[in-house]
Amino acid sequence: MSECILSLQGINKKYGNKQILENISFDVYQGEFLSLLGSSGCGKTTLLKLLVGIEAPTSGVILKNGVDVSTQTPFERKIGIVFQNYALFPNMNVFQNIAFALKSQHLTKEELEEKVKNMVEMVGLSEHIYKKPRQLSGGQQQRVAIARTLIMQPDIILLDEPMSALDASIRMVLRKLLKDIQKKSNVTMIYVTHDQEEAFSMSDRILLLNQGKIEQLDTPAQIYHNPKSEFVKSFIVEQLDEKVDSIRRSIG
Ligand SMILES: Nc1ncnc2c1ncn2[C@@H]1O[C@H](COP(=O)(O)OP(=O)(O)OP(=O)(O)O)[C@@H](O)[C@H]1O
Ligand SMILES: [Mg+2]
Repeated sequence: MSECILSLQGINKKYGNKQILENISFDVYQGEFLSLLGSSGCGKTTLLKLLVGIEAPTSGVILKNGVDVSTQTPFERKIGIVFQNYALFPNMNVFQNIAFALKSQHLTKEELEEKVKNMVEMVGLSEHIYKKPRQLSGGQQQRVAIARTLIMQPDIILLDEPMSALDASIRMVLRKLLKDIQKKSNVTMIYVTHDQEEAFSMSDRILLLNQGKIEQLDTPAQIYHNPKSEFVKSFIVEQLDEKVDSIRRSIG
């Protein structure tokens, strides 16, 4: 097993009196693809916000490479985040949107061009490099958002339902792109979804949240064959089986 890059210890998060996350403890390993799965409102996005540093936990500690990151900014944590709604700058083209992330690094014009163009190629957008976001499809815009995060060379990338606005065929292509990037760069990814199939096809491990608590954290195979509770069974196993059955029925 590779080393632990991230360790959450006894994380609680309240908004007002409402307990959103309760006693969350788990480790994430270097190079791992971990999916956070759970129904709407269970606390997935909140958990990502704590990791990246947009929100602070009510109690508990987050260690990155053994260091408490609670006083660090998102930038210092070297944790990048890709949101569901791409949030690109509408008045900037693809090149400028990606280059903007490097603004503080004082690169020469040539260095900047080379870096950005390599990244644009990696996400398959070379022919669209001078287009504005409104001239791109949803899938292409999401590629820009992914590139903009990747170019910062974060150690960990958090993705919050990055495919949910896209149709099935584009999701398949982007899933593969993400996995390829991950293999190539060995970056750790934490991927939020409420799509069981997506979690199963992409992950080394899946963390299932239920109303702010960890229900199970295991490999897809373990979760499928050894669900720890009735909830895991009904939320994952039965729903996956139902999908397979419905495909079988439609094929006849
Ligand atoms: N800033 C906030 N103030 C108060 N309550 C909040 C705030 N942000 C989130 N919540 C509440 O926390 C709970 C968890 O929200 P969160 O966005 O983490 O859910 P989620 O699992 O990401 O859901 P979805 O799948 O719909 O995106 C919800 O009940 C939500 O209403
Ligand atoms: Mg969410």
